[in-house]
This record gives sequence, C-alpha cells and structure tokens, in this order.
Amino acid sequence: MRPLRFHIHTYGCQMNERDSEIAANLLRRQGHQPAADEQSADLVIVNTCSVRGKAEDKAIGKLRLLLAARRRRPRLLVGAIGCMVQRQGRALIEKLPGLNFAISPEHLARLPAALEAARADGASRLEISPTAGPPLDLKPPALLRQAPKNAKPSAFINILYGCDRRCAYCIVPSVRGPEYSRPPADILAETVQMLANGAREITLLGQSVMRYGMQAAFQPDFPPSAAGFTEPLPRLLEDLARLPGLARLRFTSGHPSGCTPELARAMAALPPVCEHLHLPVQSGSDRILRLMRRGYTAAGYRRAVQRLRAAVPGMAITTDVIVGFPSETAEDFEATLALMEDVGFDNAFIFKYSPRPGTPAAALPDDVPPAEKLRRNHALMDAQNRRTIAVNEQLIGAAVEVLAEGPSRRNAARWAGRTRTNKIALFAPPPGTAPGDLIQVRVERATPQALYGRAAGPCPESL
Ligand code: 5AD
Ligand code: SF4
Repeated sequence: MRPLRFHIHTYGCQMNERDSEIAANLLRRQGHQPAADEQSADLVIVNTCSVRGKAEDKAIGKLRLLLAARRRRPRLLVGAIGCMVQRQGRALIEKLPGLNFAISPEHLARLPAALEAARADGASRLEISPTAGPPLDLKPPALLRQAPKNAKPSAFINILYGCDRRCAYCIVPSVRGPEYSRPPADILAETVQMLANGAREITLLGQSVMRYGMQAAFQPDFPPSAAGFTEPLPRLLEDLARLPGLARLRFTSGHPSGCTPELARAMAALPPVCEHLHLPVQSGSDRILRLMRRGYTAAGYRRAVQRLRAAVPGMAITTDVIVGFPSETAEDFEATLALMEDVGFDNAFIFKYSPRPGTPAAALPDDVPPAEKLRRNHALMDAQNRRTIAVNEQLIGAAVEVLAEGPSRRNAARWAGRTRTNKIALFAPPPGTAPGDLIQVRVERATPQALYGRAAGPCPESL
C-alpha cells in the first residue's frame, strides 16, 4: 500500500513518550515517514493518558477534532494508542465513530497489522486484552535499528512495566498491569543501541522505578559488582554507567521506600548518574498518606531526602503533590505546605485530586469543593514558584553543564538543553554547537521555568 506521512500526538508520562517513539519506529519499518506537521499528515495517532479525568478529556477532544477534520481531509486516518484504550476499550471506539484503530500499550506491536487492516476495509480495529500486562512481541534492538541516527541526545528506556503499589487514587495498576522487570541484558543491549544512534543521556523508566528487580519472577543475570552493590537498581546503574559514550544516566519515578543507603551510595559513586531525583510526596499529612496507601509518613519521606542529600550534596529533588484528596482538611493541607517549605523542592507538579473509576479512593466521597481544590492548588503553586525562583537565582554567575538539545522553539538563535539537575537552560550557542554536546553555560538570568546564559566553553569531558 501507498506509504503514509504520520504524526503522533502524545499525552501523559514519559512511558507514553517512549511508546510514541516505538510506534514511530514500527511505522518507519513499514515504509511510512513522519509528516512535517499534523496538518500535512495522512495518519494521526493520539497516545492517550488516563491518570486524571482532565487528561482523558483532552485526548477525547483531540480525537474528536481530528475525526471532524475528515470533512476537509476525507482520507485522513486516525488512531488511538495508550492507557485510555486499555481502560475504556470498546466504549472508546463507540464514543468516537470513524476511529480507524485503538491499541492498548500491551499490544503496540500490532500497530502495523491494525493499520493495514483498517486501510483495507475501513472498519475500526480494537486491540486490547482482558487484563493489562507488559508489552508483547516488542523486540527493542530490532526496532532501534530503525530509529533515525542522532534522533535525540536524550533517550528513554523502560526497565519496569506496570505497578504493584496500588496507591488508592491511582489508575495505573489497572491500565498497565502487574510489575514486570526487564532482564538486565535486554536493557544493556537497548542502551548500547541507543548510544550507537547518538544518545548521550539515558533515562530509565518505571512507574515506581526503585522496585526494579524486586519481583519474585526476576532472574538477575548481573556480572559480579565491582562496587559491592547487591540491590538490583544499583547493580543495573553500575553496569550502564560503564558504557562508553554515556554521559548521563537518570531514573524515574522514585519512592521513599526505595531510597536505600545502597542507592544513595550508587548515586554518589557513579559519575554519569545525575544529581536529580523525582520523588513524588503526594501529601505532607500522615492521615492523608495513610488513606492514599503510600506506605510512608511525612517523617519517613524527610529521612529519605536527607539520606540522598547527605550522599549527594546539591542533589535536586522534584515532586508531585495531590491537593483535595477525599477528606483533606485545612490542617492536612497546612502539613503539605509545611513539608514543601522545609524540604525545599527544586520543582513541584501540583494536581487537583480526580477520582478514577475502580480505584479504592473512588469509593470515598470526593468532598473537597472544586473552589477549595483550586485555592489549595494555587497556594502550593505560588509557594513552589517562589522557591523555584530562589533556587534558580542562586545559580546566577555559576557555570553549569548543559546537554545541548537543539534550537529553542520560541527563539531559534537560542539553544535549549538541561542541566544535570534537570533544569531547562537556554543559551547563546558557540559556533558549531551540535545536539548532544555538553556545554558549560554561565547563568546570567533565572526564571521559575528556566536558566538563561551564554556558553562559557565545552565541558572538559567532551574535549
Ligand atoms: N488525581 C490527581 N492526581 C493524580 N495523580 C495520579 N493519580 C491522580 C489522581 N487520581 C498524580 C500523582 C502522580 C502524578 C503522575 O499524577 O501526583 O505522581
Ligand atoms: Fe498516564 Fe499513567 Fe498511563 Fe503514563 S502510565 S500515560 S501517567 S495513565
């Protein structure tokens, strides 16, 4: 069949970003090419997220607009992938007449076949299984050879699929299934291939990444550890950190119970491992943390942060917070504000609680009024903004290492990249700067969103 120009629109987390890359590789392997933009595409795929009601509304709105655009573009093919497909299944297809296909994360490998079939007969295809699980039939190294060379200096690799934690508010265990840790040898092979394709920074992904290798079925095939590590995540970090060409290594998202002394030691001892951790706290109130089934107290969270900071001075910590969880009082909220003030996060993502069907919390009354959720949301965002600007302003005058990604979207004369602490940096590039270069940037100005500066020279290790 005629090759298509495709465009993939991604909502949700970094897992979805990675799945979108895999989808693009599958399509390339079938002979299709990325479109310059959505308007010129023959096929648009929406990668959906179910984590909050608003995320689902956005994806549905986007899919409806695309289907309506068929009036002007009658040959436009539209498909959905991602968590909403697993969660809503047939109901999603019924809500969106004319959708060509819907494929759950587990069945992403069926994308080429579903697309061919949809083109042949015009009927909607639904590819899901009754229970969610890790992806089937995806052979990453083969897919990766299809990836464009020097695609992006920063790449994601899944190491742990699914989630067994069952936090009371969270839809993820039901849409992504039980935990499955990939064998270390597969992760290593995928990393080597990504480095050969031009990646310099690797982010290891898992819903609760520190549970890597903690499942009974996990068969560790690690070589002996030179550093004496015994836990699976530090072992994996140690093996990856040795790979030539790898400048930076990250993993996300964290959980306080996984911040063991050994992990702290690994973060300190392995040079590519960056001084940043995303460690969602969700609440500062012990009563709410218990209702959320998070498995730690506010004091336990603080201890985890202290351990990491003691091992890695200057470590940046970012977090997620939910406001307006069922029964959250003004006092509970004050406890969250107090925790944020004394931990001093580098950045925080604040979400209004959204009941998700079938989760334990959905059985509790959603009793914090919307206006109060909004007020708490704004109060935390204001407090965090003040904090972020103060942290970022401390860097004015300092030289920071930035991994150059490419020209910034708003102003092509400026390049964008990230520091090891995961802050966005915008800088005037020296002549000949290429994506993937490590550049010393002298910080001249800071906002809550970014650091601004000029290149002070290449980093010693890239000479
Ligand atoms: N309502 C609001 N926020 C949620 N999150 C997860 N589930 C919900 C929900 N039901 C937030 C958490 C998580 C982030 C990815 O999304 O803060 O860390
Ligand atoms: Fe959204 Fe969670 Fe699915 Fe990621 S795993 S896309 S955050 S529902």
